[in-house]
Amino acid sequence: MQEKLLNLKDIALGEIQDASTIEELEGLRVKYSGKKGQLTAIMKEMGKLSAEERPVVGKVANIVREAIEGGINTKKEEIKAIEKEKQLASEVIDVTMPGKTFTVGKKHPISQIIDEVSEIFMGLGFSIAEGPEVETIENNFDALNAPKDHPSRDMSDTFYINSELLLRTQTSPVQVRTMKSQDLPIKVISPGRCFRFDSPDATHSPMFHQIEGLVVGKDVTMAQLKGTLDNFVKKLFGEETKTKFRPHNFPFTEPSAEVDVTCFKCGGEGCAMCKQEGWIEILGAGMVHPNVLRNCGIDPEVYSGFAFGMGVERIGMLKYEIDDIRLLFENDMRFLNQF
Ligand code: PHE
Repeated sequence: MQEKLLNLKDIALGEIQDASTIEELEGLRVKYSGKKGQLTAIMKEMGKLSAEERPVVGKVANIVREAIEGGINTKKEEIKAIEKEKQLASEVIDVTMPGKTFTVGKKHPISQIIDEVSEIFMGLGFSIAEGPEVETIENNFDALNAPKDHPSRDMSDTFYINSELLLRTQTSPVQVRTMKSQDLPIKVISPGRCFRFDSPDATHSPMFHQIEGLVVGKDVTMAQLKGTLDNFVKKLFGEETKTKFRPHNFPFTEPSAEVDVTCFKCGGEGCAMCKQEGWIEILGAGMVHPNVLRNCGIDPEVYSGFAFGMGVERIGMLKYEIDDIRLLFENDMRFLNQF
């Protein structure tokens, strides 16, 4: 029986040594020391031994059992260590490998100009007002005092949606919305997208952006309009910039003016940028027409206001010396990344 036991030990230890997984080891534990295990079976037979033999064989049996248990436990630790090694090796990050490059987008130059202009006006106490791009004919033309036969109303100039709606041709309808909905005094700018039935060329795009300004309250004067715009262009183009008001005509303002600034490239000397004139036109402006105030429920005998509007693309093209408006909308990253 002792021989049987020692034999069993050798076989078991050999099998344990050959095991390569924890599961295999568990299988061996059952095979030898389990309830129906081979070692258990031999030990059950010990009852048949004589009283002298029993303690001797019992001792050997204990040694064999401990050897098998110990072998299994040691091997288990070994396998665990190997598995951990493997896992660590597989999770290692090679910091010398080349990384994946992500191209980070940036603000479109048009958005940059809108932000810059908005910030200047917010510094002057203006807040931002917004309006829809699909507007009523009423807000885009009628309430703004546009005569029924005004050329801008023509089908060939404006995208009509139906007999009441159109794609706004200017940001001026936001004036109407603001005057109808906000308490006085009003001091807002409204940047936004506008649409006109234009074929694209170097200076025209059927979709473009404007920034509108509106101030309405008691004793709002043309002097304040000039002061505000003068202040604005100095912040945008530089302290030395001067403004010039040229009489003009807009249906919604009276008097109306186009506003020129001294060329920020030559300072007024005359150069290719300003077509040798020394001045560049950048804004339309004027005192809000009494009819417009009246159309929006404001008494022109008590209140007055001024308004101005500018083309964002035009300012961007001047500022960044872009000679074709279409470049702004082609979304070629090689172009956009320059700003
Ligand atoms: N809306 C005018 C245009 O598109 C610009 C403007 C705005 C002029 C406000 C005067 C006052 O030409």
